[in-house]
Amino acid sequence: MQTSRETKLTVLAIHLLYCCVLVVAKEGTPQPPHLVFILADDYGWNDVGFHGSEIKTPNLDKLSAQGVRLDNYYVQPLCTPSRSQLMTGRYQIHTGMQHQIIWPCQPYHVPLDEKLLPELLKEAGYSTHMVGKWHLGMYKKHCLPTRRGFDTYFGYLTEVRITSLTIAALITPLNVTRCALDFRDGEEVATGFTGMYSTHVFTERATELIAKHDPHKPLFLYVALQAVHAPLQVPERYLEQYRFIQDENRRHYAGMVSAMDQAVGNITEALHTSGLWDNTVLVFSTDNGGQTLSGGNNWPLRGRKWSLWEGGVRGVGFVTSPLLKQSGVVSRELIHISDWLPTLVGLAGGSTNGTKPLDGFDVWKSIR
Ligand SMILES: *[C@@H]1O[C@H](CO)[C@@H](O)[C@H](O)[C@H]1NC(C)=O
Ligand SMILES: *[C@@H]1O[C@H](CO)[C@@H](O)[C@H](O)[C@H]1NC(C)=O
Ligand SMILES: *[C@@H]1O[C@H](CO)[C@@H](O)[C@H](O)[C@H]1NC(C)=O
Repeated sequence: MQTSRETKLTVLAIHLLYCCVLVVAKEGTPQPPHLVFILADDYGWNDVGFHGSEIKTPNLDKLSAQGVRLDNYYVQPLCTPSRSQLMTGRYQIHTGMQHQIIWPCQPYHVPLDEKLLPELLKEAGYSTHMVGKWHLGMYKKHCLPTRRGFDTYFGYLTEVRITSLTIAALITPLNVTRCALDFRDGEEVATGFTGMYSTHVFTERATELIAKHDPHKPLFLYVALQAVHAPLQVPERYLEQYRFIQDENRRHYAGMVSAMDQAVGNITEALHTSGLWDNTVLVFSTDNGGQTLSGGNNWPLRGRKWSLWEGGVRGVGFVTSPLLKQSGVVSRELIHISDWLPTLVGLAGGSTNGTKPLDGFDVWKSIR
């Protein structure tokens, strides 16, 4: 009796094991990694702890130490051109985005026949979300992020300097006379954020998206922070550790960098909490060099944002992921912001079919 029951249990156990093996076999091809891209704004070479800055960035230092620091990484000297390359994988000379930034009232955008990174990732089965600064056109609905591959969008559509009178690091309602209200949730004007700090608001949305995400679906999350672009505004508590900095601009900028570093820490923590981290590739990048007229510093590189000196175009950047073969690596490989599109689509197991001829290269082998 006893023996027969044991036999039955053993048979059952074997059967269960067999089922498990089948399930694993069926799901044998590993799920493509979650892709999280954090873009800082106007973040300078000498403004990150791991380049020796007096500004403290414990999260960026730690994350990059676990990954690959990109020491020979290039971006464009200005916002719209850089962001257009990130989204298209093509030099701005091929897309008409080389002239400057897109000003709020300009009827101008990344051409609609360019296939963007989120569209390609969506085709590869990803959920695609964007939080933060778009700056690739807003004068008609067809050029909004939600019409160009993102399932959801929350942030502001233009630059920030021109709108700083009205929407600043501290969110205030925009003045309609400046063409349009550009702080949006999806395609609707976002309300209820007056007086809040954008780094906090964007981080909260990013962590909510991560917490709500179905882990069985690959995630693409693009967080384009307003930090550390002027205006130099930051909640008081981030300034305390920088009393030693005499220059007021630099002191405020340092506080903004600390808030941004905390944002990256919070986003990473959310990825851990939600169980996504083990299959995540996180890229951190600036959009252009630091603006030395607004607290940034690119030492020892010459020049600043808007210039073609190294200080304008050599960018802070790193990749971190448990999927990397080694950690604590400094890569001297030449890598450019136009490389992310083919690299991320490659990681996603997707196809760049439908894009125009790409200028970027898949650099994952070099990075890994
Ligand atoms: C909006 O901007 C216009 C032009 O700069 C200005 O005259 C007006 O007072 C502003 N309105 C508000 C509510 O700030
Ligand atoms: C990070 O999370 C902590 C704890 O919830 C919060 O106090 C802080 O404001 C967050 N920082 C940012 C930049 O959102
Ligand atoms: C690329 O896309 C076109 C149009 O959808 C399709 O006809 C073609 O077969 C695709 N090519 C490849 C290599 O997937």
